[in-house]
Amino acid sequence: MAPLLEATGIDKSYPRHDGIVEVLRGCGLRLDQGEAVAVMGPSGSGKSTLLNIVGGLDWPDAGTVSHRGGLLDLADPRAMSVWRTAGVGFVFQFHFLLPDFTARENLLLPVQARRRVGAADRDRADRLLDAMGLAQRATHLPGELSGGEQQRVAVARAFMNRPDIVLADEPFGNLDREKGAQLGDLLFGLRRDEGTALVIVTHDPALAGRADRTLVLEGGRLRPA
Ligand SMILES: Nc1ncnc2c1ncn2[C@@H]1O[C@H](COP(=O)(O)OP(=O)(O)O)[C@@H](O)[C@H]1O
Ligand SMILES: [Mg+2]
Repeated sequence: MAPLLEATGIDKSYPRHDGIVEVLRGCGLRLDQGEAVAVMGPSGSGKSTLLNIVGGLDWPDAGTVSHRGGLLDLADPRAMSVWRTAGVGFVFQFHFLLPDFTARENLLLPVQARRRVGAADRDRADRLLDAMGLAQRATHLPGELSGGEQQRVAVARAFMNRPDIVLADEPFGNLDREKGAQLGDLLFGLRRDEGTALVIVTHDPALAGRADRTLVLEGGRLRPA
């Protein structure tokens, strides 16, 4: 069976004033359905670049990304926009919640990007907020929530469109260890319940240890830890 996601031969360089910096060199990643993979590696090694390419936020210079055996057309903006909003969910280090919208409304935004929001969507948003321990916070604005709560809303939002894969880039890097561990419980619990595959970039060995396997990005490629 084809893997859920397969990236092969990914090259990515960025121009710089003193030449170009080669970030990814023939990088590959293979993810099975429902699998959780942790990605570690030094700062600047290209972890965010890889996640952004896999999630359609950035483009490789060379290489392919396929989903369930079908190549993504990285050059087709419309196809990649569908991939970004429905195929994957993102959690970043910063929550990127819209400040003028309540927690529930923030969850409904990725649905609204695709179609009209209905009662079932509001139910799902409330269930996800409940799963994140935020049942009492649905009508709060981000500014009325703590940092940990804001990030819990961001985690719930990543799952809203039932993506096959959630991509989390140092999602709890701004929280203290105890809060990070709590949110790790919630994230890993939710992905198990939803059957969602996860790629999580983290510097925290305890968080990485919850994944099915850990990979290290070094010298432009991923290798087993
Ligand atoms: N848009 C960009 N323009 C130029 N250089 C970039 C850009 N994005 C990332 N880089 C460079 O690419 C390298 C890898 O960055 P990044 O993927 O953010 O690493 P990591 O997430 O592992 O810390 C770094 O040297 C960074 O400075
Ligand atoms: Mg990064």
